[in-house]
Amino acid sequence: WVVMATGRSPTNIAVIKYWGKRDEDLILPINDSISLTLDPLHLSATTTAAVSPGFFRDRMWLNGKEIPLSGERYQKCLREIRKRANEVSDEKKGLKIKKEDWESLHVHISSYNNFPTAAGLASSAAGFACLVFTLAKLMNVKEDLGQISSIARQGSGSACRSLFGGFVKWTMGNNADGSDSLAIQLADEAHWTDLVVIIAVVSSKQKETSSTSGMRETVQTSALIKHRAETVVPARMLKMEEAIANRDFASFAKLACSDSNQFHAVCLDTSPPIFYMNDTSHRIINLVEKWNHSEGTPQVAYTFDAGPNAVLISPNRKTAALLMQRLLYQFPPNQETDLTSFVVGDKSI
Ligand code: DP6
Repeated sequence: WVVMATGRSPTNIAVIKYWGKRDEDLILPINDSISLTLDPLHLSATTTAAVSPGFFRDRMWLNGKEIPLSGERYQKCLREIRKRANEVSDEKKGLKIKKEDWESLHVHISSYNNFPTAAGLASSAAGFACLVFTLAKLMNVKEDLGQISSIARQGSGSACRSLFGGFVKWTMGNNADGSDSLAIQLADEAHWTDLVVIIAVVSSKQKETSSTSGMRETVQTSALIKHRAETVVPARMLKMEEAIANRDFASFAKLACSDSNQFHAVCLDTSPPIFYMNDTSHRIINLVEKWNHSEGTPQVAYTFDAGPNAVLISPNRKTAALLMQRLLYQFPPNQETDLTSFVVGDKSI
């Protein structure tokens, strides 16, 4: 016999950034963060997990290619889900997997992400969210999505926010074991349907410094990061939650842009400095800043993760269309720039 489960998780884009860990093993952050979950149409991971007495070890395939599951992050996710597994039975098929059987049964996992190969966008958030979500489904784990998110967090920090749709907060928590460092939904995908997210792919090259090592170096060498984590982010979190609750785009945009800029400033304050943005990223910031300034109120928000690609958020479709036009005019398609648009999307399913 074989028992299977399938799940799908979208990616998320942080508007208040997670950067820096206080515990590297458990992946516990030094500050809270907030993100938008994108619709899974273009950027999501789909995973199928299967269990059978005929499987002799845990194995995983990513986009059709087998990858080693030996990494500590994968092992932790598997271990934590197995610990919480429950009985699975199907009377018609005469099947019964007892709670204690899960320890000795092995799983085969196949995961695909539909990220355009040239997108140069991180897929680890959607990937780990989907892995943990699907294993939890397979093993009949009863814990709520928040608890599941704290397991996904141990795969990749930002993954915990992809379990929920809409607007999501990752609370850093206080407990030493990380049990209260988890994702909470602030508002679902129906809360602010006018928003349009445009991703301007500036370069599809792999980033030179991974988020994991980049944030480690920042925590070790930057003086600015302490000020950011202790003073700036706590105040910003409150304002961002308020802006989202009130669908206040002007405030939302100001906070998102400032937070992205401060994240890149702490990267610059790292020794040796980390440069994630390039000239094109800077030109996109200029374009948006000038436009927002000339209108007297923000028309568009920008945010950049650990790479040069721009994530642009507009308050409605009309502005999004104008933005697309301006971007295409300034960055003709013969350059590397590629544009894709999204709406705020649903949770893992
Ligand atoms: C810049 O979640 O990829 O995207 O926890 O080490 O796996 P690890 O890092 P990761 O870092 C994401 C950093 C960011 C900001 C964010 O998503 O909040």
